[in-house]
Amino acid sequence: MKIITVQKLKKHFKVYKRGAGLRATLRSFLSRPEETVKAVDGISFEIEKGELLGFIGPNGAGKTTTLKCLSGLLYPTSGQVKVLGFTPFDRKPEYLKKISLVMGQKNQLWWDLPAIDTFRLNKEIYDIEDSDYERNLAELSQLLEVSHLVSIPVRKLSLGQRMKMELIAALIHRPEVLFLDEPTIGLDVVMQKNMRDFIAQYNRRYQSTILLTSHYMSDVKELCKRVIIIDNGKIIYDGQLDRLGRKYADYKTVTVIFEKPVDGKKFPEMGEVVSFKFPKLVLSVPRKMSKHIAAKILENYPVEDFNIEDPEVEDIVRRVFSEKKV
Ligand SMILES: Nc1ncnc2c1ncn2[C@@H]1O[C@H](COP(=O)(O)OP(=O)(O)OP(=O)(O)O)[C@@H](O)[C@H]1O
Ligand SMILES: [Mg+2]
Repeated sequence: MKIITVQKLKKHFKVYKRGAGLRATLRSFLSRPEETVKAVDGISFEIEKGELLGFIGPNGAGKTTTLKCLSGLLYPTSGQVKVLGFTPFDRKPEYLKKISLVMGQKNQLWWDLPAIDTFRLNKEIYDIEDSDYERNLAELSQLLEVSHLVSIPVRKLSLGQRMKMELIAALIHRPEVLFLDEPTIGLDVVMQKNMRDFIAQYNRRYQSTILLTSHYMSDVKELCKRVIIIDNGKIIYDGQLDRLGRKYADYKTVTVIFEKPVDGKKFPEMGEVVSFKFPKLVLSVPRKMSKHIAAKILENYPVEDFNIEDPEVEDIVRRVFSEKKV
């Protein structure tokens, strides 16, 4: 069953450009040069019930704008969106009771009050039955292991603990569709893992449909079978992550910090130079070669710091661009 259908969705913003300085400020009173930002530029996709889909792309690609259109916070410039049979921007209470938008960068909790107060407020807003509320709260706070923290003022909690409370506040009405916009941003590795496990469990346990954006490839790899890659407001890939992964799992990203300026002439022989600006070099190298190349760099250059990792979402996306056909 299709839970979400998006057809030729566009969201364009008009922005007024103004140069720097007093003169430009004065001139801007007379005429304001207008510019259109095509944040989302004609995207179409469908999501089945129970899917956990990764929505990825570089900064400014249009991910958040899309999620805002889907959750009814923004009115599209054109195109069609249906979620659970509703048109999101009508913002019908019946619709809002079935969805939730969680933004890692924003919060809804009251800073000076304990999280439980926000939960109670949401209980009223969403009109949740007492018994459902108690059950949901108990389940969520146990799953996230924060039962003992709900009565402490939010400002006294750590970032990770706060993020968990944000999730509880967003899920207390047991939404069928979840829009998660960078839910793991800024969390340490352990907390990220925690959060991922929770998202996976929530998806399985309630058959909820989840659209997730993240800049951490590990989130996407662990949680999503299917991904949509968006860039410049357009979809450039929609399909199984496996298929992308198979092509790019063969690469590692080598990051080097040099002690002193070095001659970069030989780097292209070692791998693909992603960026090189003293003191930092980022190379993309075949997985099998990564140890060998690491040794070679350490031997021949004054290295201060060194790191070999799996490629970031950005790198994969960049490769998708550079090779175009996927
Ligand atoms: N309210 C707005 N007014 C004008 N331009 C906007 C507005 N909101 C977003 N934009 C622009 O639309 C584009 C897409 O922004 P969006 O926030 O959707 O990107 P994103 O993919 O979520 O990026 P990030 O990964 O950095 O969160 C950007 O160029 C942004 O500057
Ligand atoms: Mg965003």
